[in-house]
Amino acid sequence: MQIGIIGAGTMGSGIAQVAAQNSHSVILVDSSEHAIARAKSSLEITLTKLVEKGKISNEKSNDIRANISYSRELDSLHNCGLIIEAIVEKLEIKHDLFLKIESLVSDNCIIASNTSSLSIASLGSVLANSNRIIGIHFFNPAPLMPLVEVIPAVQTTDQVLNKSVEIIKSWGKVVVVCKDTPGFIVNRVARPFYGEALRIYEEGKADFATIDWAMTEFGGFKMGPFTLMDYIGNDVNYSVTESVFEAFYYDPRFKPSFTQRRHKEAGFYGRKSGRGYYDYSENAQEVSPKLDVELGKEIFERILAMLINEAIDAVFMQVASPEDIDLAMTKGVNYPKGLLKWADEIGLENILLQLENLFHEYGEDRYRPNPLLRKMVREKRSFF
Ligand code: NAI
Repeated sequence: MQIGIIGAGTMGSGIAQVAAQNSHSVILVDSSEHAIARAKSSLEITLTKLVEKGKISNEKSNDIRANISYSRELDSLHNCGLIIEAIVEKLEIKHDLFLKIESLVSDNCIIASNTSSLSIASLGSVLANSNRIIGIHFFNPAPLMPLVEVIPAVQTTDQVLNKSVEIIKSWGKVVVVCKDTPGFIVNRVARPFYGEALRIYEEGKADFATIDWAMTEFGGFKMGPFTLMDYIGNDVNYSVTESVFEAFYYDPRFKPSFTQRRHKEAGFYGRKSGRGYYDYSENAQEVSPKLDVELGKEIFERILAMLINEAIDAVFMQVASPEDIDLAMTKGVNYPKGLLKWADEIGLENILLQLENLFHEYGEDRYRPNPLLRKMVREKRSFF
């Protein structure tokens, strides 16, 4: 099957590489000549590295290169069986593109979007045959991250869903299927990792380094929240939080933080700007955490309880199965353990108690324990 990828930026060029590695003929389209040139040269750098490290043979590298053709014209996509759009995150621009694509391709071509924040139903609404729309959400960098979220819209047929899952699995990816709801699985369930950490900082309970230390030391997370936000970029991370908050009709659970907003406004994006929560300049002093075990454990337990509550809400709202939610968090954001498995190990009654204490202390809706958590504790059930 010929695969079309539109948008040769960060995501599109990575997805094209994945499809080409799996022996598809790929057409990578971008309206910008500059973007195409950049995608070509970054593929060359990647292939050279892979050959040097012995990860692929010279012959395989030549095959991958030969499998990808580049174009500035959408017409070249007319034979594709699957098209994945990865252009700028603007609904009107994507709508305009989808209308053009549909007039070019065959009736059974699947039209997919790699969007992180737009609803798949809204993207498909402009298509005459909207039951071929689907979300296929890769993580950055697409060739390395194993997880792909596949999101059927209300319009999508089972046939389109099954075919899409089959194709993406054949590329060696871990596929989770989730409902067309804001943030899908990962960008929804992960919000408290950042939000609760920022809140703890804002309350003056601990500084960035101490909160990061608590999460790596007691939680086994590869990076603490502030280090991770500095990696992702505070501009990008803040706008995901803001869009999830808006999309959830301003549910206080997802309220963005002033601290992060001010960092973004100041241009303190993180590593890429040389300064974020930490200073990345050459002579910067490393900041030491306060190695207070009691405080560290309290921070870790509070953030973890909030994450687990969010994962349980995704089960409660039928966003995805418990198995897929745990897979998503371990394979999409490298959590050391699935949150629901973690909840079982700690004991759901202990998580409930932790959340009830927070809710009692603050009286804020953000800490309300999920009804499914209460029910499961009452019925003495566990997730697995
Ligand atoms: P990017 O800015 O790196 O690349 C977008 C590319 O699309 C650019 O090369 C641009 O020239 C091209 N483009 C824009 N309008 C076009 C049009 N009408 N026709 C053809 N080409 C057009 O963007 P990035 O980061 O790759 O994101 C693309 C999509 O993937 C967005 O929907 C984003 O939400 C989603 N996404 C991004 C992730 C990330 O970490 N960057 C992760 C997962 C999804």
